[in-house]
Amino acid sequence: MRKNYAVIAAGGLGTRLKNFKDNLHTKVLIDIDGMSMISTQINQLKSWGFLDFVVITNPDFHDLIVNDIKQNHRNLNISFVVQDQPKGIAHALSFAESKVDDDSLVTFILGDNFFGENPLEGIDFKNFKGSQIFAINVNNPDEFGVMELDRDNNLINIHEKPKEFISSLAVVGVYIYEKTCFEFIKQLNPSARGELEITDLNKLYLTNNLLNYSIINSWWIDAGTEERIKKLKKLI
Ligand code: G1P
Repeated sequence: MRKNYAVIAAGGLGTRLKNFKDNLHTKVLIDIDGMSMISTQINQLKSWGFLDFVVITNPDFHDLIVNDIKQNHRNLNISFVVQDQPKGIAHALSFAESKVDDDSLVTFILGDNFFGENPLEGIDFKNFKGSQIFAINVNNPDEFGVMELDRDNNLINIHEKPKEFISSLAVVGVYIYEKTCFEFIKQLNPSARGELEITDLNKLYLTNNLLNYSIINSWWIDAGTEERIKKLKKLI
């Protein structure tokens, strides 16, 4: 059977959370409800049916993250890789290449993204081609990647944190790719802020007519600020 790896970006330093209590300057170790954010994330992915995991950490917090996960999750098929420099979300994903079998799928999730319902429900993984993103209506689209649709609801562009209003459809932090993602990432150039952007990877799939999208209806939290973490604690 075609494997589907849950690849988790856990290296973000959480600079927006610098002064938040319990923050060891790595967001994914913040306590959510008696458990770290990263171990809570693995619980979420287990409940969606994932069996194989790759966790991308950063050099400073690698050991703490590995220990935390090993304490909370025993007998897990899990690999760890270190993103040596903070050069963006697509750059982080590139480190998973050697841990993923050929012909398998990659479900890439940002460690701080949590969902009320499994957004992957109904995806045909057996016949999956290209890539898939998910979007949700928000009232603060300038804080996210945003989908632009034409009148027939065809996806025509994605804009990373647009200053001018494009649409209220924020692209959430879970993405499905064939293993081609690693080749596509090699074609990306750093953005103005010097990062390999996940939005640019998705735009490359779009240019190649290989990007699908769906809209999700349940709650979604990108727990990247103090306020959103408080909300997550209530919801989880
Ligand atoms: C990242 C992505 C953005 C996406 C968001 C979802 O933003 O760059 O496209 O909408 O995650 O959580 P960041 O959280 O790094 O600001």
